[in-house]
Amino acid sequence: MFKDRDIISIKDLSRKEIEHIFSVADKMEVLLTTRTECSLLEDRILATLFFEPSTRTRLSFEAAMNRLGGSVIGFASPEVSRAGGVFAETVEDTARMAEIYADIIVIRHPDANAPVKCAEAANIPVISAGAGATSVGTAGILGEHPTQALLDLYTIKKEKGKIDGLKILLMGNVTSRASHSIGLGLAKFNTHVYLLSPEVPHLSKVLRESFDDAGLSYGEISRVEDVISEVDVIHIVSSRIATKSEKTEDRYRIDLNKLKKAKEGLIILHPLPRLDELPTEIDNTPYAKYFAQARNGLPVRMALLALISGKV
Ligand code: CP
Repeated sequence: MFKDRDIISIKDLSRKEIEHIFSVADKMEVLLTTRTECSLLEDRILATLFFEPSTRTRLSFEAAMNRLGGSVIGFASPEVSRAGGVFAETVEDTARMAEIYADIIVIRHPDANAPVKCAEAANIPVISAGAGATSVGTAGILGEHPTQALLDLYTIKKEKGKIDGLKILLMGNVTSRASHSIGLGLAKFNTHVYLLSPEVPHLSKVLRESFDDAGLSYGEISRVEDVISEVDVIHIVSSRIATKSEKTEDRYRIDLNKLKKAKEGLIILHPLPRLDELPTEIDNTPYAKYFAQARNGLPVRMALLALISGKV
């Protein structure tokens, strides 16, 4: 079912397949918590091709591969490879080189099409580690971050015990690749999504079409306070970079005051890194699940690597 698959978009995965990834991730979690040595991927090499900065995604993919007994090669910036500098070798040629040396490629790139180009050029599985730049109101292809959506959904499932029936607030730059992918992922479950973003009420036509095509149930709101007593999950990302402002506008921030009327059991997720939209005063509250979310990247990415390698 998964062997040799590319993971380019969360849309490529059915609900059943996502649930299967979660069940394998649960087994990986046992390996991690018991610190059991594992040699499942000892004959496999992962190439990490990062054309943009990353902390969580690159390190968790590399840790996942290492925990499964595999090896990792790659670069953390095009500038330390021939994909940068005067040669600026194409994604396709870079992919052709990676397939000579490795068994799976993980790629992050500012071009939303780069993972597809990479997968077309290479005859080994390609996983997108986030691709596509975003900007408020811009038409064009929206980026995606499919494995981020998987670990976000996995975190919701673990923390809330279910995904169906939940109400989720996506706030901040909702055209970001992380928000786009979690929206598409939530569309596979029986959820309702509220959007609170500088893009609202001028939500990008491209994002609207993407969410409509996916069958996402969503509505747009203008204040956290209007839905805080009914939402089960807040998924917040920075809007400051997209709006090019020095300080996040108050309505796109979370703070303790806004959480006073929060629904019992509310959880707050953030793909991180954060800016001032998520102040550290939230970190020690029961709502804060964003560090657990980052940690969940490990079993989820271990599961994906093992499944794509045909080893589970
Ligand atoms: N969430 C996420 O993609 O983080 P990094 O940019 O650090 O990989």
